[in-house]
Amino acid sequence: MDKPMRDRFSKEPNKLAKGYTVSVPFDKRLYRHDIAGSVAHARMLWKQGIIPDKDAELIIMGLTSIREEIEKGQFQFNKELEDIHMNIEARLIEKIGDTGGMLHTARSRNDQVALDMRLFTKEAINETIDGLKAFQSALLDLAEANTGVSIPGYTHLQRAQPVLFAHYLLAYFEMFQRDIERLQQCLERTDVMPLGSGALAGVSYPIDRSSVARELGFSKVSANSIDAVSDRDFVIEYQAAASIIMMHLSRLAEEIVLWSTAEFGFIELDDAFATGSSIMPQKKNPDVAELARGKAGRVYGHLVAILTTMKGLPLSYNRDLQEDKEGLFDSVDTVLSTLEVFTAMIAGVHINAERTHSAAGGNYSLATDIADYLAKKGIPFRQAHAIVGKLVRYAIENKKSLSELEIKEYKTFSPKFEADVKSITVESSLVSRNVPGGTAPEQVRIALAAARRMLNGK
Ligand code: ARG
Repeated sequence: MDKPMRDRFSKEPNKLAKGYTVSVPFDKRLYRHDIAGSVAHARMLWKQGIIPDKDAELIIMGLTSIREEIEKGQFQFNKELEDIHMNIEARLIEKIGDTGGMLHTARSRNDQVALDMRLFTKEAINETIDGLKAFQSALLDLAEANTGVSIPGYTHLQRAQPVLFAHYLLAYFEMFQRDIERLQQCLERTDVMPLGSGALAGVSYPIDRSSVARELGFSKVSANSIDAVSDRDFVIEYQAAASIIMMHLSRLAEEIVLWSTAEFGFIELDDAFATGSSIMPQKKNPDVAELARGKAGRVYGHLVAILTTMKGLPLSYNRDLQEDKEGLFDSVDTVLSTLEVFTAMIAGVHINAERTHSAAGGNYSLATDIADYLAKKGIPFRQAHAIVGKLVRYAIENKKSLSELEIKEYKTFSPKFEADVKSITVESSLVSRNVPGGTAPEQVRIALAAARRMLNGK
């Protein structure tokens, strides 16, 4: 088996062509999935009487010892053998002789690689969900440790209305919750066992696809052999879910970058998660957050790459499909490492509550509350809005905050203003937004408890 699958050719393969098509440098990452699939396939061939007992046993033992060789770093990956599938098969034949050649009965590399990719992606989905949950838990820890902290809420990056810091963090909790749900749905469609599809048309042996599916932990077998060998929707869906996760992380990264500037001064990162400058000794840079923001771009790139790879492919298998792997591996690594480092980083965020509190009430951000005050006294909200708009302009012109204005100044804008308008504060503003989903401390307490229960699966 020194030149596999070249019996019909009269020439040696061209060196450049061979170098161009080889995939083992990256698809060796699928060795565990490939061996698990082969073991299940061999056992099924045996149970179905397609290959003899003793040969199946030999194959399974051989595969198991190959896995050990790989794990101990003793396996010689050989580029001459193109991909991980041929590397393992060639080693099997080397170890157990011609019997090893029985393993590929009723199988093609096309359904084999589809299986390996589905096994890999299922694992990646579960690890990503675990990473998301760990990060959600860190967000909740930070929120629960700072329930009394208010910060300015922004629209258009202009101070808008005060909100609780915990409420803000819970907004991110929601995004990551949707990411988990998206991955759970992606898992359902990935959880389909393609083996038995052969090259594209099915196989001519009395195989038992369900037993292979059961052994490998799949809940369904694929319904169409042509689709099964050429479908990579599950890769695209993972890439799409990964892109959305990175987008969410990147938005949070942007907040961390902004909030840790001297201009905002809302948070301080733990020294262990900040980096220095090679020239400016005073610098404390949020490089982890910046890199996460940057890496979102690379994951989006992998999504666009796989979509583009797939768009012109006629059915069924085409070698283009080999391009599904590196991008997927890189997205999985990027998402998992970003979640991991963010989980650790967020635990060490220190919030400057005095500063966020004074910013929360600054820049006339209680103006809506004052308009609401008038509206609750019967002035149509649009008119109340106009009155408070004029009041704010007056305050700006006189270089005063709303709380520094006298009641008699208020009254020149509307007779409905009374002394109690001065009791409008950041706290009263927060307490007043007592609707489900709102920022009132009572609602946030309920939301935090619900989030914790959801995270604990209750
Ligand atoms: N390395 C190939 C891939 O990733 C394996 C399948 C090869 N099949 C084939 N017919 N050449 O897609």
